[in-house]
Amino acid sequence: MSRRAVVQSIGHSVPERVLTNKEIESIVDTTDEWIVQRTGIRERRICSESETASTLAARASAEALERAGASPEEVQLVICGTVTGDMNFPSTACLVQNKIGAKSAGAFDVGAACAGFIHAAAIGSAFIESGQFDNALVIGVDVLTKFADWTDRSTCVLFGDGAGAVYLKGESNSDRGLIGTVLMADGAGAQHIDLEFGGSRYPASDPRSENVRRHVYMAGREVYRFAVNAMGDACCRVLAKAGLSTEHVDLFVPHQANLRIIESAAERLNLPPAKVFLNVQKYGNTSAGSIPLGLYEAEAEGRLKKGMTVLTVGFGAGLVWGANVIRW
Ligand code: ACO
Repeated sequence: MSRRAVVQSIGHSVPERVLTNKEIESIVDTTDEWIVQRTGIRERRICSESETASTLAARASAEALERAGASPEEVQLVICGTVTGDMNFPSTACLVQNKIGAKSAGAFDVGAACAGFIHAAAIGSAFIESGQFDNALVIGVDVLTKFADWTDRSTCVLFGDGAGAVYLKGESNSDRGLIGTVLMADGAGAQHIDLEFGGSRYPASDPRSENVRRHVYMAGREVYRFAVNAMGDACCRVLAKAGLSTEHVDLFVPHQANLRIIESAAERLNLPPAKVFLNVQKYGNTSAGSIPLGLYEAEAEGRLKKGMTVLTVGFGAGLVWGANVIRW
């Protein structure tokens, strides 16, 4: 049997501070009812000033390693899916590598927005399957509340902060592991979700940057339409690639952006509610953090057990979308 990247353990981290819809009512012109009806979100976690992508990611990583009984020194790769890293550079993965003491590891970030964990896990798995590395710590983290425009009611209500991390290890005689991957992109839709300020097109030093948005912009309706198609598309492709059908799926852990988007994807895939994991009501859209956070909670609730087939799917700025099938 070929070599596979098997999940040894999972860790997570969310900020303590809960921000409810009721509290947002005093920030922008919105209501708890509108937010719940249109998104399913009831509350989200937000970082304090001192919390950043790397502090959440390091906590999630340390928990994953501890639960695997692995020492930081044995980690060979740290791959961090994020678009809200501590700085433009160095990478957040390097900051995490230092914080957790993964002295023998290579480290880099993967920028695929809300599909960041899907991409990072696929890369980690490919490195392990090829035999180049024996293990990888794969993280998904985002802190979008720090980049939201808190005067724009159509975006600020959506986001929350959070992180999750899995420890992958190569195993040769296992039917567990990451068994299928699909990664897709359409850069023609780049303008639908972006953060223009601070990149090389509009650096802080350029006077033209003064008129450029400093916050996340999202064309909600366009992204909604794209998301509904993208989720179904990626799931159908990855199942076909893995030689599986929806009946083989024990649990569906989709990117938690909007309850309506998840429900329409589940309907298209013919997945009953009992097989669909949801925590969007508690955390909002935590971008790259959302899927590993979902996997963590599903496991903690006893809904995700060793040997189960879990379908994960994400979409986001890029535009990008993708899915992984994991035999847990
Ligand atoms: N409270 C009250 N009213 C609001 C709010 C709010 N928070 N936000 C928007 N509205 C109003 C609008 O102004 C609009 O009013 P109008 O008709 O008078 O103009 C009305 O509600 C309807 O607005 P829509 O944008 O059509 O609302 P929709 O039902 O599409 O829901 C939403 C908006 C929730 C943003 C939805 O489009 C969505 O979820 N889109 C996808 C977002 C997503 O999944 N992003 C993931 C990627 S993010 C990343 O990669 C970083």
